[in-house]
Amino acid sequence: MLNIALPKGRLGKKVYSLFAEIGYDCEDIFEDNRKLIFENSEGTVRYFLVKPSDVAIYVERGAADIGVVGKDILLETEPDVYELLDLKLGKCKMAVAAKNGWVENPDEPLRVATKFVNIAKTYYNSINREIDVIKLHGSIELAPILDMSDVIVDIVETGTTLKENDLKVYTEILPISARFIANKNAFRFKNDIIMKINTQLAEKIG
Ligand code: PRP
Repeated sequence: MLNIALPKGRLGKKVYSLFAEIGYDCEDIFEDNRKLIFENSEGTVRYFLVKPSDVAIYVERGAADIGVVGKDILLETEPDVYELLDLKLGKCKMAVAAKNGWVENPDEPLRVATKFVNIAKTYYNSINREIDVIKLHGSIELAPILDMSDVIVDIVETGTTLKENDLKVYTEILPISARFIANKNAFRFKNDIIMKINTQLAEKIG
């Protein structure tokens, strides 16, 4: 049996549809219930529904053989897994945003609010800009509005959250999308099935 970690939420539903289309459909998954584990009727795969930012941990530790996770999480946490395929789903951007009309003071360290401390540090390091990082866990957009930070480094998908809070993108750092990942041991010992799925997924997304 192959264990698959799926992110809960919107991305998870799209990813599951892809797996269902290549032959791994599973009854009741994403129905309105609180179950977290689902097995298909053939008994060949088992899905775990996990918090999107935890998928890589389940795969790294071998609780799941394969999974799907955003490139943002891979860059931020650098898990010891194989990244096999860009699924081209859940596309968005990692960007620097600030209040409309914001003017940078180059003489002061830049105050950066973010969930993505490593990504922010790597980016500002690459442009030799000294920063003061403020780690937050959500509603990042509040920080510049309350003048707790100068900018935010965050995911922008539709841009609605920025717009509704009078913020705008100043720099796009990276494109982000969902990646198919595998546990390193599972990749050795369950190579046939993992590579078969990888090929089927690649054909499906074109
Ligand atoms: C993410 C991100 C932005 C928003 C961007 O937040 O942190 O706030 O989505 O999407 P948009 O460009 O389509 O508006 P999430 O919904 O994960 O919630 P959070 O505030 O808890 O981080």
